Amino acid sequence: MTELHARWLKSVSRRRALAGFLGFLVGAPRAGGQLDRFRDHSRVGGLAEMRDVFDFEAAAYERLDRATYNYTARGGGSEFTTRRNREAFDWVGLVPRAIGEIGTPQTATEILGTRMRFPVMLAPSAAHAVLHPDKEAGTYAGCKNASETPMILSHVASMSFAELAKIDGGPLWFQLYPRKELEQNREPVESAQNAGAGAIVVTIDQQASVYDRAVHDRNLSLRPRRPPRLDGNDGRYRFSSGRMWYEWSLFENLRTMVRVPMLAKGILTREDALLAVEHGLDGIVVSNHGGRTLDYTPSSLEVLPEIVEAVAGRIPVLIDSGFRRGSDILKALALGADAVCLGRVPRWGLGSFGAPGVTRILEIVQQELLEAMTRCGVASLASADGSLARTDFP
Ligand SMILES: Cc1cc2nc3c(=O)[nH]c(=O)nc-3n(C[C@H](O)[C@H](O)[C@H](O)COP(=O)(O)O)c2cc1C
Repeated sequence: MTELHARWLKSVSRRRALAGFLGFLVGAPRAGGQLDRFRDHSRVGGLAEMRDVFDFEAAAYERLDRATYNYTARGGGSEFTTRRNREAFDWVGLVPRAIGEIGTPQTATEILGTRMRFPVMLAPSAAHAVLHPDKEAGTYAGCKNASETPMILSHVASMSFAELAKIDGGPLWFQLYPRKELEQNREPVESAQNAGAGAIVVTIDQQASVYDRAVHDRNLSLRPRRPPRLDGNDGRYRFSSGRMWYEWSLFENLRTMVRVPMLAKGILTREDALLAVEHGLDGIVVSNHGGRTLDYTPSSLEVLPEIVEAVAGRIPVLIDSGFRRGSDILKALALGADAVCLGRVPRWGLGSFGAPGVTRILEIVQQELLEAMTRCGVASLASADGSLARTDFP
């Protein structure tokens, strides 16, 4: 072999050199190769341009890192229930009156001693610090400026109830993830009550604590999530052992320390609704946790009528999971709910524009509710009855 031949065999061809260099450029962050091109080229509107909740979700998607967006947006398993929660609204038609009542719709109500200008509350949701540096204080301020929308503070919030209650704001309730040792519930319950909690909402449906989507996406996320541990008691079932023991007697036990109204959150059957009444609860929240626990449950809207019928007006029936529009709220009211709680909605508001985003997103939903009531010809909550809704659940 000549020296020239040997050199040629070991050398990099022009084509390979070029291909390698282009590959480097495509992958290089500075060249934009790691970025989502749709994100880069889309222009996200300002606060004044937001028309509905879905605009806010897009704005939050733009502003939050992928892991944080996913944590709020995603549901459990195949996300069937999360999708079904939205789809359920397509199965309820609104039937307007040709000539309706006259006047500005009256939307004020009172639930378990808490007055509200609209039958809308904030569902408890964890860790607002990941969404905005103002944390729950931003959310609470946003609620105050949106007609003092009542807020339910999560047990796993970024701020304590006592800290938040010091801020001048609207009605505040507390959500509890109960502990098996009764005494371990005393501190959170007492400190919330002493700081003025209007009610305690005990969540009983959050058994699983793994969001598959976030795990699948861990390689795409900026903040990797740990895959579930498969050893030990918790890991084997991917359940938190802290939540695997619930019994109905829990409520009688908690009652020894709860002085304010107590609600159970996570009811999806008439049987459980009746048990809640039997065990002395003052209210229930019909909820599948926004599709974040067991996948393939019915949507909360589908089970609402049977639960309302079973409860028969003895205690207030609140509902959440999937609510995004004013007309969604009117449908639930027509099917007998006393109020609707919003989980992801305020998170999109806070994540995209901070406290003013929370205010605006709530105002939009409130305006949409007024609009839906007006179009249906109902001028009060009392008139928003079953005659308005035509259900066609599968
Ligand atoms: C990111 C996130 C965190 C949540 N954290 C809690 C929580 O700490 N306690 C609780 O009872 N429910 C929690 N939920 C459930 C909500 O209270 C509510 O049931 C659900 O979000 C309603 O569905 P929606 O998001 O479609 O409105 C959380 C929901 C989301 C989206």
